Amino acid sequence: SRLLLVNGPNLNMLGSREPEVYGHDTLADIERVVAEVAASASYEVRAVQSNHEGVLIDAVHAARDDCAGIVINPGAFTHTSIALRDALLAAALPVVEVHLSNVHRREPFRHHSYVSDIAEVVVVGAGIDGYGFAVQQLVRVLG
Ligand code: DQA
Repeated sequence: SRLLLVNGPNLNMLGSREPEVYGHDTLADIERVVAEVAASASYEVRAVQSNHEGVLIDAVHAARDDCAGIVINPGAFTHTSIALRDALLAAALPVVEVHLSNVHRREPFRHHSYVSDIAEVVVVGAGIDGYGFAVQQLVRVLG
């Protein structure tokens, strides 16, 4: 079966975007790591990145029909989007939230997440490795 990987706004800029915060890995590197870790547990991955809230919401809705769980880095929508939160609740799939940076060490407006309290697991501050761990944790939850 399949996992949905969702990356939100500005994550297409990884590698060149604030490398001192987010490192030099690219979105392609993230998607490769996620696919590899998932494959080792016999899961396929559908990877979606968008800068548009509605596109992310549509992808989450679609996952309800054909995915077993969701790994999501909602980017800045983490801190703003009740709509994305509601989409995750509507999909009714296990969610693992991941952030490259340690959001709790940054500006106060990054300390609140609309996703964390509905996520099974939250991974922050581990860079690209956090995505591999997020997949492992989702696989564990799916048991
Ligand atoms: C981020 C943290 C968010 O606060 C920020 O808006 C991002 C990236 C992270 O992965 O560390 O775009 O989700």
